[in-house]
Amino acid sequence: MLTWYNFAMTKFLILNWKMNPETLAGARVLFEKTKKSAQRARSVAVVVAPAQVHLASLASRFRGKSLSFAVQNMHAQPSGSYTGATSALQAHDAGATHAIIGHAERRALGETNEEVHDKVHAALDERLTPVVCVGERERDSEGAYVHEVCEQIASALADVPEKRFKDIIIAYEPVWAIGAPKAPAPNEVHQMIVLVRKAVADAFGIAASSAVRVLYGGAVHAENAEAIFAVPGLDGVLVGRASLDPILVDTLIKIASRAAK
Ligand code: PGA
Repeated sequence: MLTWYNFAMTKFLILNWKMNPETLAGARVLFEKTKKSAQRARSVAVVVAPAQVHLASLASRFRGKSLSFAVQNMHAQPSGSYTGATSALQAHDAGATHAIIGHAERRALGETNEEVHDKVHAALDERLTPVVCVGERERDSEGAYVHEVCEQIASALADVPEKRFKDIIIAYEPVWAIGAPKAPAPNEVHQMIVLVRKAVADAFGIAASSAVRVLYGGAVHAENAEAIFAVPGLDGVLVGRASLDPILVDTLIKIASRAAK
């Protein structure tokens, strides 16, 4: 078991700060406010993904179980001459329990499905929960986007033993919704969550499909979070912009707590 929460009830709220806030002092302020809200949460796994350079400082001062930490990216190799990179072991040693892998903003810089696959295995080997991001770049009327997402899942998770799927989170994030004003409608999110679970079942079996956690990400805000958290089979959300506003974070945690009951 990699994590401390009760999977059956828990809703996930992954807060991807990306390259924010501008200073460590700013990150500490945002973290303290996020922590206060997380302490009041019920059955919500709040995971903060700060800038890598801020992670160790925030994690080393933190005591408690109200939240946990993720790295926003990691390298597949355990050590070596990889300027600017962070290994899974370094991430774990700095206090991370989760690793966001294959985020659209990394894929846009050239990260391939093969690299995502290697990172997933490296994370699992170092007791990090991989948060594997998948999602189509655009929707087309022929349905090629469905194949794009299924292919991302099949290749990212290839060779993962069935018993490890309980340690994996898939975040479905349509690229066109990330940073956009509007998320897809809840019924569209639902269709894609069903598709993600079917893709896992087809490639890795029913047990893997029911064990894996599936999140949605892309333009989640206070106004649409209630409806998105209510999507059947959805285990939570991954949030970018809204994670930088402590008032919105507090609202999202309250909504997640209600959804977890
Ligand atoms: P957003 O980002 O919430 O700002 O759309 C989501 C993401 O990048 O995962």
